[in-house]
Amino acid sequence: MSDYASDTLNDLTPEPTGARRVVVLISGNGSNLQALIDEQTHDRLGGEIVAVISNVADAYGLQRARDAGIDAVVLPHGEYDSREAYDGALIKVIERHEPDLVVLAGFMRILSSRFVQRFHGRMLNIHPSLLPAYRGLNTHAKALADGVAEHGCSVHFVTEELDGGPVAIQAVVEVSEGETEASLKEKVHAREHLIYPIAVKWFLEGRLRLEGEAAVLDGTPLPPQGLRLSHADAAEELDEK
Ligand code: GRF
Repeated sequence: MSDYASDTLNDLTPEPTGARRVVVLISGNGSNLQALIDEQTHDRLGGEIVAVISNVADAYGLQRARDAGIDAVVLPHGEYDSREAYDGALIKVIERHEPDLVVLAGFMRILSSRFVQRFHGRMLNIHPSLLPAYRGLNTHAKALADGVAEHGCSVHFVTEELDGGPVAIQAVVEVSEGETEASLKEKVHAREHLIYPIAVKWFLEGRLRLEGEAAVLDGTPLPPQGLRLSHADAAEELDEK
């Protein structure tokens, strides 16, 4: 084959496109991370978790990452003088792994606006409430104190407003008679493990994206609460009695 012909052939050969890359940030137990790892193990995540980063050295989620053969990185915030300095270092560590998506899975830090802007449109968080209700901490206790009939969890794009970015999906749980904070937390957690892999997969498959102020799924802007999984549907998926 002449040089000319082989050059032409090379031009027509598509670049190999690798698996889409995910970096997960944690601070603790990492049960949501585990739900994502489990999907990845079954080739159902739509991409690959390439690194797990924790600001807490003894976070159990780091062990989950190591057990799955995933790069586990500790970046302790105590060693930095300011939030900006820490977030700058964190950006560097994350970018070293060239992620398509950054997943916050119980990462217990307020993020600087520089950090949020850097990963705008490619960073998801899971929050244990039916947003916009109960932003911030202690969501289960607040829901119980208010005597609400329904509670749940939401996956949303991260914007500068704390727990305020557009929601992609949420799952509802009915609050039962005699519900305790612990029992409610457990039920919500099961739903978190159900919906987070769904949202991550949507994103990695190019079905979910952030457009202006809206989460868009398959080209259609989602309502403010995202796609809402009812209590009955979630309970069926989870085989709950
Ligand atoms: C979850 O409740 C999640 O909604 C919140 O932090 C908790 C993390 O739990 N953002 P785990 O570490 O994934 O078990």
